[in-house]
Amino acid sequence: MKVGVYRENGQGETRVSATPDSVARLRKLGLEVCVEKGAGALAGYPDKDYADAGATLTDAQTVSSADFIFAVNLPDTETLAGIAGGSMLVVFLAMCEDDGTLKQLADQKVDVLALERIPRISRAQSMDILSSQANIGGYRAVLEATTHYKRFFPLMMTSAGSAKPAQVIVLGAGVAGLQAIATARRLGAQVRAYDVRPEVKEQIESLGAKFIELDIGEEGSGEGGYAKELSEDARKKQQQLLSDELKKADVIISTAAIPCRPAPQLIPAETVEGMREGSVIIDMAAATGGNCALTQPGQVVSEHGVEIVGYTNYPGMVPADASSFFARNLVNLAALLVSSEEGTLVRPDYMEDEITEAALVVYQGEVRF
Ligand SMILES: NC(=O)c1ccc[n+]([C@@H]2O[C@H](COP(=O)([O-])OP(=O)(O)OC[C@H]3O[C@@H](n4cnc5c(N)ncnc54)[C@H](O)[C@@H]3O)[C@@H](O)[C@H]2O)c1
Repeated sequence: MKVGVYRENGQGETRVSATPDSVARLRKLGLEVCVEKGAGALAGYPDKDYADAGATLTDAQTVSSADFIFAVNLPDTETLAGIAGGSMLVVFLAMCEDDGTLKQLADQKVDVLALERIPRISRAQSMDILSSQANIGGYRAVLEATTHYKRFFPLMMTSAGSAKPAQVIVLGAGVAGLQAIATARRLGAQVRAYDVRPEVKEQIESLGAKFIELDIGEEGSGEGGYAKELSEDARKKQQQLLSDELKKADVIISTAAIPCRPAPQLIPAETVEGMREGSVIIDMAAATGGNCALTQPGQVVSEHGVEIVGYTNYPGMVPADASSFFARNLVNLAALLVSSEEGTLVRPDYMEDEITEAALVVYQGEVRF
């Protein structure tokens, strides 16, 4: 059986879904691998290294006829139309409602496995693309903050004068937020963090940050470890109580998200207006509407002297390691996608495994959203 790896054609994407190391691991599972030429170029993985690892370098059309097709993002319409029936597209789908694409793939008899739907259970931890990429994103977002903030992060005492440590607030303490806390702490900032799920207090404190406790009169914990959307009253109260804290921050890294819902708005325009000039907001929720009312997705804007950064692909700014983690997640998944019978690779019954059962959004001609 063959794995195909596309060169990503999405705007600004630098990552790739297989690396020379992951190709070697896929080969050890008994899989053939074909990689579109130039697929790893932007992540620092040249074609030669893929060939040395045992991949065949090829074109997109050949990739489209593989049994399993790996991609970071959903390919363009033309590429999707060329995928052969019987293939399985394994992709970070980032789709909450079918816009017709999945129906089309179902009609083509292409199966689709949405990586973000892999359940967050212990057995699937090694395949958890949401975590591997959010972790890198949280780290890179803090580095982005340091370049926009016109001062030091750490306390500096020099013969030329002293500088105070930056006051950083992290909003949302999921995977990205916790990594942002750890990174900002390593750089010497004083960090406080807030999350609507009170159970993260301990995790925040274990990283040496202070937990901002707010009484908003409602529990924010929802199903499966995620947050739930708050009532209108609680939302207003949250914004009000948070506003006083946020106005004291030099840097805000906001990561608050609810799956398949618009990002909660935690930083209204009035709060930005009350912040000190030269402060920085890194809004990691920019792609889903932003935690800040003034965020422009993909752009850096300056409002009331505050720089608001709305970049939407932080993992793509660390492309070698982001690709490496992504690719390793896929190797671990590949071990579930094939099994060996009498020395031949076969597809097991995907509906019998809770991981593939949950993640296959198109299977055997049916959209299963
Ligand atoms: N394999 C596993 O068991 C595993 C792996 C990774 C993560 N998880 C869990 O999954 C959950 C989600 O993690 P994630 O990083 O994907 O989260 P996420 O990206 O969906 O959200 C980021 C954070 O935003 C917070 N948030 C949402 N609304 C908010 C609001 N109004 N105000 C403040 N904060 C708000 C959430 O509580 C969350 O911590 C966590 O409980 C995490 O521990 C489990």
